[in-house]
Amino acid sequence: MLPHPPRIAPSLLAADFARLGEEVRAIEAAGADWLHLDIMDGHFVPNISFGPALVRALRRHCGLPFDVHLMIAPADPYLEAFAEAGADLISVHPEAGPHLHRTLQSIRALGRRAGVVLNPATPVSAVEHVLDLCDLVLVMTVNPGFGGQSFLESQLPKIAALRRMIAESGRAIALQVDGGVTAETAPRCRAAGADVLVAGTAVFGAPDYARAIAALRGAA
Ligand code: DX5
Ligand code: ZN
Repeated sequence: MLPHPPRIAPSLLAADFARLGEEVRAIEAAGADWLHLDIMDGHFVPNISFGPALVRALRRHCGLPFDVHLMIAPADPYLEAFAEAGADLISVHPEAGPHLHRTLQSIRALGRRAGVVLNPATPVSAVEHVLDLCDLVLVMTVNPGFGGQSFLESQLPKIAALRRMIAESGRAIALQVDGGVTAETAPRCRAAGADVLVAGTAVFGAPDYARAIAALRGAA
């Protein structure tokens, strides 16, 4: 077991889009650790969410670290816009291409923390040779694009393999899980070695955000 309780990063995708300012204030008051922001372009994934203007607008309403998950291709032309909008951490998929190493360098050069996201079919080797540029590795436990999907158990060995890879590297790299995280699946993610849990439906879909966050943290 890992020494600290897991950090909980509610995904704004499941919030009420007509009341986003209120929603981010409420989630901070409820004890969230990070705010996870899913950026979708209708091209890399079959859904469209929101862009840097919204991230910037929310920045005034929320003091939590902004964890920006880019599901856009290409990502490189937009890194600066998200950094300036208030992203603290920017994560990219290797498939967004063309040069993952350069993209991570660019995120670091903007003074932001950098993450790599592995889709269900993407092997751990995709991140192996860029760990020196990673502050976070994110394992998708659903196919990216939508909230409310079922957790893919097949990804648990990948989480465990990444935990070993990170330990061997000796680096302080966060290991995040995203997709279908609930009070039932959180303990399995935790046991496999995850230390940051993204949860959309399980938090914003619950009547009491503080209770939902505490339940995830407690279960894990
Ligand atoms: C999916 C997104 C997730 C999503 C998770 O592409 O990356 O962050 O919002 O939603 P739940 O927790 O409902 O599976
Ligand atoms: Zn996400």
